[in-house]
Amino acid sequence: MDFKELASKYKTPLYVYDFNYIKERYEALKNAFYARKSLVCYAVKANSNLSVLKFLADLGAGFDCVSIGEVKRALMVGAKRYQIIFSGVGKSDEELKEALENEILLINVESFAELLRLEEIAKGLNLKARISIRVNPGVDAKTHPYISTGLNENKFGVDAQTAKKMYIHAKTSEFLEPTGIHFHIGSQLTSLSPIIDAAKIVSELLRELRALEIDIKFFDVGGGLGIIYNDEKEINLYDYAQGILGALKGQDVTIVCEPGRFIVGNAGYFVASVLYEKFNGKKRFVITDGAMNDLIRPSLYGAHHKIFAYGKDENLGTCDVVGPVCESGDFLAKDIKLPECESGDIIVVKGAGAYGFSMSSNYNTRNRAAEVCVLDGKDRLIRRRECFEDVVAPEIEFLESADARAK
Ligand code: LLP
Repeated sequence: MDFKELASKYKTPLYVYDFNYIKERYEALKNAFYARKSLVCYAVKANSNLSVLKFLADLGAGFDCVSIGEVKRALMVGAKRYQIIFSGVGKSDEELKEALENEILLINVESFAELLRLEEIAKGLNLKARISIRVNPGVDAKTHPYISTGLNENKFGVDAQTAKKMYIHAKTSEFLEPTGIHFHIGSQLTSLSPIIDAAKIVSELLRELRALEIDIKFFDVGGGLGIIYNDEKEINLYDYAQGILGALKGQDVTIVCEPGRFIVGNAGYFVASVLYEKFNGKKRFVITDGAMNDLIRPSLYGAHHKIFAYGKDENLGTCDVVGPVCESGDFLAKDIKLPECESGDIIVVKGAGAYGFSMSSNYNTRNRAAEVCVLDGKDRLIRRRECFEDVVAPEIEFLESADARAK
């Protein structure tokens, strides 16, 4: 990809996504479960750009959503209602109501209190809510603590015994229909065994539920497949699929998975321009127009993304790559080797397609970056760069009324 040309055409900071790669990854995962009923529900939170969603919907993907906003995004691009799942530990009444009215496939319930609330809301609408319960299997996913979710000390899901009680309650309810069972133990997983351990625990519960004539049709194994940022090893998809099928021991269910990062992570590049280089007596800094508000993963998780200076290959000295935001925590990389840079050079951050733009903000009143896709060698803008007016719009009317009051 000619990042120099893209940067000059669309300006920087900029996100660039390789749609051919997205297709490849979606299909690889879908094919891993061939010959089995399966549904790949892309985790919208990883990258929720409407063009990304539309591209995946056209490939046949379903969607895993964690807010009604994400559900609406999925519906907006023509996703099929029966391929949309709504998860999350704290859904509001309005969100539950809207999800029910839209008749999506499943609402993933994460507590007894939520189950009762959903039942009330479904009763008010005279509808039957198709539910799945998120089981917290108490398994250590061995990933960054902020994105580890399968331990009982994490806020997610309910333990197996509580889940069983919830299913029994749901079976007797006129307004609830137990339909799926769910777990998700964490993100950026590079070891298969915790996923298989979790699948075995949840599969055992599935067997117990079936003995109680609770008919679960969907076995949702969550997302979490890790990608290569540096020298990690990805989980082999064949082993992944076989491991899950093995844990199910022949139980007839549709397997659902919710990959986010796996599909879009390595499809994305964050492109920034060098503003200055400086040496402060102790350390060399390459200052770019991209910052922590654009890509927060390095600052928030200490994540390492590979970075290169486009068109230059001699990596001479060690430096920190930093942005203009007024915090020492504002960096894209620390202590990496880069060639000597000058103003206008292009810096490319790899592995930025997942949790990059979707976690970006307007901190320091910075306009959020533009997004571009490249498909079959052709580039296209899929989100225009924000302008100052976009950022202040929700505040302006109040400023004017305060002005009027003061007069
Ligand atoms: N399903 C559920 C219930 C989830 O909570 C998540 C991610 C996924 C699926 C998708 O996980 P993935 O396949 O992308 O690993 N901001 C963090 C990642 C947070 C993940 C939150 N949940 C990061 O930048 O690493």
